[in-house]
Amino acid sequence: MSELRVLTGITTSGTPHLGNYVGAIRPAVRASLAAGVESFYFLADYHALIKVGEPARIQQSTLEIAATWLAAGLEPERVTFYRQSDIPEIPELTWLLTCVTGKGLLNRAHAYKASVDKNLASSNDPDADVTAGLFMYPVLMAADILMFKAHQVPVGRDQIQHIEMARDIAQSFNHLYGEQLVLPQALIEASVATLPGLDGRKMSKSYDNTMALFAPREVLRKQIAGIVTDSKAPGEPKSTEGSALFEIYQAFASAEETAALRTAFAEGIAWSQAKEILFERIDREVAPMRQAYDSLMSDPARIESILQAGAVKARRLATPFMASLRRSVGLRPLAAGPGPAASAKKTARPSQPVFKQYREKDGKFYFKLVDATGRQLLQSRGFDLPRTAAEIVTRLQQISDFVAQEFAEHLEPISEVSPEEIGVALRALRVSESS
Ligand code: TRP
Repeated sequence: MSELRVLTGITTSGTPHLGNYVGAIRPAVRASLAAGVESFYFLADYHALIKVGEPARIQQSTLEIAATWLAAGLEPERVTFYRQSDIPEIPELTWLLTCVTGKGLLNRAHAYKASVDKNLASSNDPDADVTAGLFMYPVLMAADILMFKAHQVPVGRDQIQHIEMARDIAQSFNHLYGEQLVLPQALIEASVATLPGLDGRKMSKSYDNTMALFAPREVLRKQIAGIVTDSKAPGEPKSTEGSALFEIYQAFASAEETAALRTAFAEGIAWSQAKEILFERIDREVAPMRQAYDSLMSDPARIESILQAGAVKARRLATPFMASLRRSVGLRPLAAGPGPAASAKKTARPSQPVFKQYREKDGKFYFKLVDATGRQLLQSRGFDLPRTAAEIVTRLQQISDFVAQEFAEHLEPISEVSPEEIGVALRALRVSESS
């Protein structure tokens, strides 16, 4: 109950590269193995639709990213691993949040502002090529996070503003409808490396300087051969400072291995040889995962079924929570009357089953449990004394009230089931056990 919930999403708009692995996937998989943490990882394919208008690419990227995370060691039994678009409660919550989100808040989002600024700079209409999807991006992201009551959201620095907006949106909602949404915090891992790319700048698809994560061995070797170095000849001492090659090595190597390469640099190792060492070191870590990745990629049905199982797990939380959020904003059955707590009590009261005590012709004392429609749910055996029957009735009432209360307090209600109905179900259970 009080476990720390960590949640993060990965937009399905590309193929994961080595920089994503070092900067996000590897630390996340490691963190997911920690005790006392409940992790949620999902494929943000609704977010991908904002940037990518090619159906085949969305599907392919979803497959590749899912396979990558699984190959990197994410254990779907241990975490909740799902695809955003398999959870219909997320767009549903998005709308409830949209209705408490100030338009001005969204006007200030960096991604939206950047598009507008670009348009203004080229004297276009400010909103040229800006979809409402881009504008609404932060609300969808808030729904992702708030749906699962995440405490911490590990993200890159570029996403901090989005987490702050999720907090703002949650606060507005809670203010209006009562404290229901958990305020999330961004988690920025200071210790995680940003990997330089082939040209020494940050490895990024937008710089076109990436190295493939699960490319065949020989492709990896060729890419490493392409890392930019200075033109020092073999035998000349080389500087580790500002060397992309050295930095990439460091992200994979142990402290001793790193120290050894530092010495080799000082001693004038040839670049070609240093690249070979880097290649073998990366390949050592990546090869077993590459094998797992290839086997997953050749069996999309297996990935699909893992994601389906993840969706079931996720929806076990999302469905009842969404139902209670709907009720709290006033989307609820008309017969239920005003106020969620009040309504449940008022309407359910008459349908409470009651114990009736009576005496039979055999002279013994009995009791039965009868529901509001007069249907008999329980029939006791006969007792010689009326007091015995009464004591048992009292005890049964105490037990079922206690259990019903425990349920109401510690479990999320399922859709429109009231605590009273749960009580009825539990009473029926008691009956079948004791008779
Ligand atoms: N916007 C995030 C990114 O581009 C992806 C994302 C979508 C996300 N929903 C999220 C991250 C919820 C964390 C939590 O990196």
